Amino acid sequence: MKHFLDLLDWTGEDIVQLLKNALKLKKAHARGKNKPILQGKVLGLIFEKPSLRTRVSFQAAMAQLGGTSLFISQADAGLGKRESIADYARAISQYVDAVVLRTFQHATVEQFARFAACPVINGLSDYYHPCQALGDFLTILEIFGDAKGKTIAFVGDGNNVARSLALASGKVGARFVLSAPKGFGFDQAFLDVYQQSAVNGHLSEQLDPFQAVLDADVVYTDVWASMGQEGEVDERRKSFEHYQVNADLMKLAPAHAKFMHCLPAHRGEEVTEDVFEGDRSVVFQQAGNRMHAQKALLQWLLE
Ligand code: CP
Ligand code: NVA
Repeated sequence: MKHFLDLLDWTGEDIVQLLKNALKLKKAHARGKNKPILQGKVLGLIFEKPSLRTRVSFQAAMAQLGGTSLFISQADAGLGKRESIADYARAISQYVDAVVLRTFQHATVEQFARFAACPVINGLSDYYHPCQALGDFLTILEIFGDAKGKTIAFVGDGNNVARSLALASGKVGARFVLSAPKGFGFDQAFLDVYQQSAVNGHLSEQLDPFQAVLDADVVYTDVWASMGQEGEVDERRKSFEHYQVNADLMKLAPAHAKFMHCLPAHRGEEVTEDVFEGDRSVVFQQAGNRMHAQKALLQWLLE
């Protein structure tokens, strides 16, 4: 059974091939010519947290490829509450052809996948966001032609988005620099995972954001408090105040460097309005590419 939980079992070649497929699907979509390759297939989306991009891009992708989808919110899912995750997974995976899960705990996605009789896709957990990394590398491929040797400077929290981007970077041969305040960088467990799974990349941490962006092709940031960390918002605002992506920081990055953000963004916190709306920002190209990358993923897992 093929799943898409954390990118660990994917090679750099797999990722590059999937992105090439995504580019073809994107071109066909622009010509109104996506083939109904997923006709008769049903995708179930079970979300414990809110979503715009992940939910709608997956549902639209299924519709455009001839399949259907159904959305189950936490209120209806009651994952682990109304019945155990194992029982839920064994039942629903007989009705649908694949499941996208968005959960608080990454362990929920892993447990679900152990019991499911169909492919399971991680649509964001507290630890990883691999679908975001696919859309982001599709964007990097479009802009730079190749991800190999490129440098991504991630300024902000060493969170789910950062971990998946770092892992994908390691596999496709990109350099990843994390600039997070003390206590918000990558933990040792993740660094061990990265070392085991990265073949061609390079990972480093740089406390000073102004140093971190000097060689960047991409300056990336994400919210300072992720979903599930609402109680830490004020404290995090203080910890991260010197880690804002603003015009002064972007000035230090090479002139060709782009600004990326997974969205949703908090203007005035992790990024200023001028950078977000500026001509180096590719955030909506990224958002659009979520759908094309996920079409390729669905094709990979279901066809
Ligand atoms: N970037 C992203 O995953 O957005 P949503 O939370 O809206 O799905
Ligand atoms: N790190 C953010 C990403 C949202 C797409 C979160 O988990 O809330």
